Amino acid sequence: MSKRVLTTESGAPVADNQNSATAGVGGPILLQDQHLLEKLARFNRERIPERVVHARGSGAYGYFEVTDDVTGFTHADFLSAVGKRTETFIRFSTVADSLGGADAVRDPRGFALKFYTEEGNYDLVGNNTPVFFIKDPIKFPDFIHSQKRDPFTGKQEQDNVWDFWAHSPEATHQVTWLMGDRGIPASYRHMNGYGSHTYQWTNAEGEAFFVKYHFKTNQGVRSLSAEQASELVGKDSDSHQTDLLQAIERGVNPSWTLHVQIMPAAEAADYRFNPFDVTKVWPHSDYPLQRVGRLVLDRNPDNVFAEVEQAAFSPNNFVPGIGPSPDKMLQGRLFAYADAQRYRVGINHTQLPVNAPRKTTADNYGRDGAMATRYGSRHDKNYEPNSHAGPAQSDAALASPLAVTGWTGTHEASAHVKDDDFFQAGELYRLMSQDEKSRLIANIASGLSKVSLDDVIEKNLAHFHAADADYGKRVEDAVRALRED
Ligand code: HEM
Repeated sequence: MSKRVLTTESGAPVADNQNSATAGVGGPILLQDQHLLEKLARFNRERIPERVVHARGSGAYGYFEVTDDVTGFTHADFLSAVGKRTETFIRFSTVADSLGGADAVRDPRGFALKFYTEEGNYDLVGNNTPVFFIKDPIKFPDFIHSQKRDPFTGKQEQDNVWDFWAHSPEATHQVTWLMGDRGIPASYRHMNGYGSHTYQWTNAEGEAFFVKYHFKTNQGVRSLSAEQASELVGKDSDSHQTDLLQAIERGVNPSWTLHVQIMPAAEAADYRFNPFDVTKVWPHSDYPLQRVGRLVLDRNPDNVFAEVEQAAFSPNNFVPGIGPSPDKMLQGRLFAYADAQRYRVGINHTQLPVNAPRKTTADNYGRDGAMATRYGSRHDKNYEPNSHAGPAQSDAALASPLAVTGWTGTHEASAHVKDDDFFQAGELYRLMSQDEKSRLIANIASGLSKVSLDDVIEKNLAHFHAADADYGKRVEDAVRALRED
């Protein structure tokens, strides 16, 4: 095998990679040392901005296989036949902390999945929680500011976390979820994934359905107590990355079974609460889980920066037969992701191998920009319509149209009768065993008792009281006891 020669970026051989060129022995460094200049300059530019949320993550390739016939509900090609397999890439993540944080923390986990389908890439960008803290995207930057590091102290502050929740009663359901047993997953393999939002499926006849996605882990749900988590963080702050990487390297391929809840579109208007409200789940008694297929992860990325850091998922990447619902949060997300990626990675992030379609080719009149690698041939025109057989629109329908009525403006309420912020938090609390309830109360009280403003504490207590009388009383007693200590 011929020996590999170290070169500069322009391909010239490097003669010395240990000593900079100097004016005499021990003298100052010469500007003519091209290798040194290039090496230092390149190093300075290695990092791109981290994701504004979900900065820490782990990725893996795999496949999705259809196990059950869902063609009555969607004409999406990758779901069109039992046994059909589609290559996938997933990125799991924590949400609030920066790239250098720890994995085993109390925080939702991201579950972002890219299907490389024959009709283009489909991104399903979900979490390990079936609900979310807020229901209007206009609140998202404030929400995230309150959960991430404080601009003065540089740390996450319980004062900020709970102050935001004090003013956001709709968060009570997700707070109950987060402070409960599932709030710290043992690993990315041991948690479920949810689309969380309601999406729309359309079948070949043009009939519309609203769906919610549930990926159930086949490894079993396993979580950590607050004490186990802090011990693990001390031993391995990258514990989720270690677990996923090593499992796949050993050939222990994690898998999830995908189920969906399906609501015929005509039932949405009269459902007893807003089915597009991401702070609420649909009871399984109303819309049971229907199995669709399984997701298997079987290959680690070769390069974390290229494939995980530069991975770009957008909830707006749909394929024919799947589309958005009127969920306001989802609508906000349809804008936010690709916009973030144009800043974080660049306008041509879609051309990077992890993001580019694998079973189709992107073919359009978008051109140029920094680091463009996709060019047509000399005969390709850069305008449309043209007389040169360039790509032209087809009649592919992503989703069926939705009828809308009403006035433009900001609307606080929805038309649904049972849209209070608390009843599902109460239902979740009442589902818990006595031990689970005790741990939930202890987790809430440990954070809430540290809050400095009494008013913030009182407002949060009122939310737990509104969810369930016993829940409210127990949180109140626990917070007061800790504050008297
Ligand atoms: C209006 C509300 C939301 C906004 C504006 C928002 C915005 C963002 C932005 C800007 C990113 C970084 C994207 C990037 O740089 O590549 C991100 C990442 C992410 N978000 Fe959201 N988000 C919202 C709500 C949600 C919800 C409800 C979920 C889950 C159901 C979610 C799941 C994720 C995940 C999993 C990632 C990480 C994706 C990856 O691994 O690259 N977000 N979000």
